[in-house]
Amino acid sequence: MCGIIGYVGYRRASPVLLDGLRRLEYRGYDSAGLAVLEDQDLTLYRRVGRVAELAGAVPEKQEGHVGVGHTRWATHGGVTKENAHPHLDGTGRIAVVHNGIIENASELRGRLERDGVVFHSETDTEVLPHLIRAFYKGDPVAAVRQALLRVNGTYGIAVVFVDHPDMIVAARNGSPMVIGLGDDETLIASDTQALVRYTRRVIYLGDGEIARIDADGVQTVLLSGASTAKEVEQIDHEWGVSEKGDFDHFMQKEIHEQPESIRRCTRGRVVLEQGNAKLGGLDLSPRDLLGISAVEMLACGTSYHAALVGCMAVERLARVPAVAHIASEYRHRNPLLQRDAIFFAVSQSGETADTLGAVREVQLKGGEVLGIVNVVGSSIARACGRGTYVHSGPELAVASTKAFTSQVTALLTFSLLLARTRQISRNVGKDMAEDLLGVPEMVSRYLANQGPIVEAAHAIKDARYALFMGRGFSWPVAMEGALKLKEVAYVPCEAYPAGEMKHGPIAMLEQDTPVVVVMPNDHVREKTLSNVQEVKARGARVIMIHSEGDTEAAEQSDLSIAVPRVHDLISPLVTVIPLQLLAYHVGVLRGCDIDKPRNLAKSVTVE
Ligand code: F6R
Repeated sequence: MCGIIGYVGYRRASPVLLDGLRRLEYRGYDSAGLAVLEDQDLTLYRRVGRVAELAGAVPEKQEGHVGVGHTRWATHGGVTKENAHPHLDGTGRIAVVHNGIIENASELRGRLERDGVVFHSETDTEVLPHLIRAFYKGDPVAAVRQALLRVNGTYGIAVVFVDHPDMIVAARNGSPMVIGLGDDETLIASDTQALVRYTRRVIYLGDGEIARIDADGVQTVLLSGASTAKEVEQIDHEWGVSEKGDFDHFMQKEIHEQPESIRRCTRGRVVLEQGNAKLGGLDLSPRDLLGISAVEMLACGTSYHAALVGCMAVERLARVPAVAHIASEYRHRNPLLQRDAIFFAVSQSGETADTLGAVREVQLKGGEVLGIVNVVGSSIARACGRGTYVHSGPELAVASTKAFTSQVTALLTFSLLLARTRQISRNVGKDMAEDLLGVPEMVSRYLANQGPIVEAAHAIKDARYALFMGRGFSWPVAMEGALKLKEVAYVPCEAYPAGEMKHGPIAMLEQDTPVVVVMPNDHVREKTLSNVQEVKARGARVIMIHSEGDTEAAEQSDLSIAVPRVHDLISPLVTVIPLQLLAYHVGVLRGCDIDKPRNLAKSVTVE
């Protein structure tokens, strides 16, 4: 969950490292630090708090051209300067930054302490510099390799040595590391966002690989010592540097990017003339598709909500049984796999440890998992080997918005593909394709006329509790709306299927409790409307997301927010937008740190 950056080249390292840390800050933001090699010495800067605090502590005149930096999301040890990375060995000549968890840290620490090593932090990471020192005989790669052979757990690390002032050693096992190749400069980072300003030519480090990085490039070896050949890849345009531009926050910007991100997700994939879809990355022939007996999805958080929508679409359109699993639960229940079921791992970051663990469990049991992933080259994409990138581009706000709509779009596209091998005709497929291709226009139309969102935000901002409800496709949307509100505005709330509300949560309603109802014009609209009467009778204040032209819905609401009228299957792509905006505005009114909510981090690489 932490961010790592390293630089070796002709520029002054510290501005590059600080710029990289600012771009990685969404991955963890409780403390930050950097180490720079200069004049046969290693200078360390660490601060609790944001990268801005650290930047204030690094002198302008810092001249070193090699260094590593880190932004932390605490796991082992509290948020203190001592626990911030980089960590040093006892001589202060080796510095390490680390992302991941060293599972046998306490055992290693005990052994090192018995050998006289003094520790200065509570972190698991600190065993690494001491262990590397213990094996260092002049060859930095060999020392790192020997140390890592003693380590269990996950890591992405970057190490600098005073004795080798022109290079960085990096290694990876389960935590992302990407190397950027420039002209006379090389960078290493946990995320391409920190590199793209300098280069688009990258190498993805694999699990169990160690890299020796200098200004001329990189050499890689396996933990076994055998050297490896790496492919240089080019980062796509959509993964360019992301700036806020005219927006106040990345979340707001990313909400407004959705017409374009949804369009990118369907481009070249939804084929109107054939009423069909093409998802080449899945590598499934029509015969393979016909043989699928069930679809199962693995995901967490927002991606799980997208998976729920995807499963409903698969069942409705293709009439194939589909189920979404919360990945953090899935693998611990020793799951039973159905023969000929196909699995999807749905993940924005592609690094979520719980989802990756579930993927491995399915693979171990002989199942086939395909990735529905945003971040190119990420661990889940690589573990699956096949799948579909959703092409949202960088999502820097911790609260996910545009990735959700892209995931839903990709899963709807898959549903169309699957359905065409079974029960829907070209004409029905064409209607669906037309609807899908029309979504960006519908989302733009809504964004241009958002309705009384700010008033609705005022109605929620001081609430002790808020309830979200919806039926059918709108139930996962309600769950997503409640999750967003918790994350960015910290308002206690929950989401229920509208029909289930009377089985418990209705007891929570008091005079003026805000109830957000998602009720597009679908086959369960009438039933939801009855539930609206029930909450109104208890004094609730109804904020209704409904289809344009539904005057009855508007009349039954205290605040009515109309979205374009679309096919039921597609409705989550438009009804979720006002809920994202609502959470955003409540967060702003409550003075919350929108893009970096408390306690959260963007990619959750611990279980
Ligand atoms: C919510 C959010 C999280 C993620 C979850 C899974 O706004 O961002 O709930 O959806 O941590 O992350 P990915 O999709 O990266 O696997």
